[in-house]
Amino acid sequence: MRHAWIAIALTAACGRTEPAKPAACPPATPCPPPVAAAAPTAPTAPTAPTAPPPASTVADCAAPTGANPVQTEMRRLECALQQAVAAIGRDDLPAIAHQLHVVHAAKEATAAAIAAGSWAPATGDVKAFVALDQAFHRELEALVEAAMARDHAGAAAALGRTLGACQGCHAAFRPAAPAPAAPAPATPHDHAAPDHAAPAH
Ligand code: HEC
Repeated sequence: MRHAWIAIALTAACGRTEPAKPAACPPATPCPPPVAAAAPTAPTAPTAPTAPPPASTVADCAAPTGANPVQTEMRRLECALQQAVAAIGRDDLPAIAHQLHVVHAAKEATAAAIAAGSWAPATGDVKAFVALDQAFHRELEALVEAAMARDHAGAAAALGRTLGACQGCHAAFRPAAPAPAAPAPATPHDHAAPDHAAPAH
């Protein structure tokens, strides 16, 4: 209660109307001089809305490359599916087809590398990998078809199915899934700070 009285007294002394923070103006400290900016300010003019870029120009999913054809394919796939989300949100479904075309080309490079024997999955059977990859790309084709037909529900459902297929292949064929991130160090949260003053237990 004592704090509250001090706060009220200080609020009055400092001529402020906003909620008082006891620590902000302790008795030993003179009240801070009024800041020029504290004077009534004219409302800032609303910024003119900027036209959002079309999703198809946001990222070039042909740019990412990896250490092997599958890494390249995966990086482009990740990029293309991120763009697919943007395209759905911006009602630019045909952009999905454009981005996935890039992934398809990367998949062809993977198939060529497998056929040439220059790439094989680090674990698992190569034939099983190819079968899974083909099934996965059929899902991507369904996504492209729905996108070209401007079928929002169909595109969203196909996108969900493709995302649902990532982990199955990774679990079987990816050399080492990234280790789970170390738990972030607990950020000290100062409950004693004036803003967080909690009632005493
Ligand atoms: C048919 C198998 C298969 C499917 C399906 C698949 N991946 Fe992969 N993915 C792999 C393999 C194999 C690797 C490991 C490549 C390597 O490191 O050599 C990988 C690696 C990755 C990587 C890491 C690339 C890097 O930078 O090292 C990302 C990101 C990724 N996949 C995203 C996805 C996403 C997103 C999906 C689903 C939408 C998906 N993958 C579906 C096989 C697959």
